[in-house]
Amino acid sequence: MPVLVRPDSMERITTPALAEKFIAEQIADIRAQVGDKKVLLALSGGVDSSVVAALLIKAIGKQLVCVHVNHGLLRKGEPEQVIRVFKDEMDANLIYVDAVDRFLDKLAGVSDPETKRKIIGGEFIEVFAEEARKLEDVTFLAQGTIWPDILESEAGIKAHHNAGGLPEDLKFELVEPVRILFKDEVRVVGKALGLPDNMVFRQPFPGPGLGVRCLGAITRDRLEAVRESDAILREEFANAGLAGKVWQYFTIVPDFKSVGIKDGKRVDEWPVILRAVNTRDAMTATVEDVPFALLQKITDRITHEVKGVNRVLYDLTPKPTGTIEWE
Ligand code: XMP
Repeated sequence: MPVLVRPDSMERITTPALAEKFIAEQIADIRAQVGDKKVLLALSGGVDSSVVAALLIKAIGKQLVCVHVNHGLLRKGEPEQVIRVFKDEMDANLIYVDAVDRFLDKLAGVSDPETKRKIIGGEFIEVFAEEARKLEDVTFLAQGTIWPDILESEAGIKAHHNAGGLPEDLKFELVEPVRILFKDEVRVVGKALGLPDNMVFRQPFPGPGLGVRCLGAITRDRLEAVRESDAILREEFANAGLAGKVWQYFTIVPDFKSVGIKDGKRVDEWPVILRAVNTRDAMTATVEDVPFALLQKITDRITHEVKGVNRVLYDLTPKPTGTIEWE
């Protein structure tokens, strides 16, 4: 079984050598815990689940079954990257579930943010449980629980979202190989495991994904506008050397239109809102002072390349009074 508490004496994992030591210890622990049984993992492609997947692949290879649920609310290129890295490069046992229609059909016409979140969370569990029931002889469930998740759930700040949620008939023993690590340590371990930088050093991304950035009732065309504008923003920030320097940056598309002009014709289209913030703990945040020329370039690209968009706005609001996401 993994260690249940982080020992006070534990050295912070900051170097590749310390990461290698941790990886070797975990591989031995995982093999001792799992034996020749099968382990199931919901692999979102986020940092924590990706590092757990890479660790388990090293330790037990094909005894790990990864399930990647594409709910249609992921960023551009993410499902493809999960398949490339884990199936093609690491030869993992990966089940890819295209659940896009299922999620978007359930979300159609739903505008209340909390209801949207509940539908996305509930549907995710349902899809994952369906896949789990199709498999035979799975004894373990691996999770990317990290040390702050445990501290926060103990302090009653948030329900430990990793644990539980699955229906009663699906009872697994947990495998949580990064549960004593802080986020920065998970990244060092991920790098040592050979995961790509854009997977290991990615910005925080909410569980409900682009669903919280496509305001009001989600429609497929507006969701594409969020996804395409987000990809342009990320590309331009990377070109300008801001990736990895700015804590979080993304785009939002509200559910209203305004008049504009394209090719000499009046058009009623959506605005795209840009948000770029810096913070330590996400409790408060300041707005990134993005160079005006870069904002102009991003505006030019979004208004010309993203279908249905005629304006770009920059959110100047720190937290408080604004939250980081719009919802
Ligand atoms: P707010 O909008 O509350 O966001 O200022 C603070 C940070 O939390 C992220 N966020 C989430 N992360 N699941 C997550 O894992 C969620 O449901 C969720 N909602 C917000 C948000 O992106 C920001 O970094």
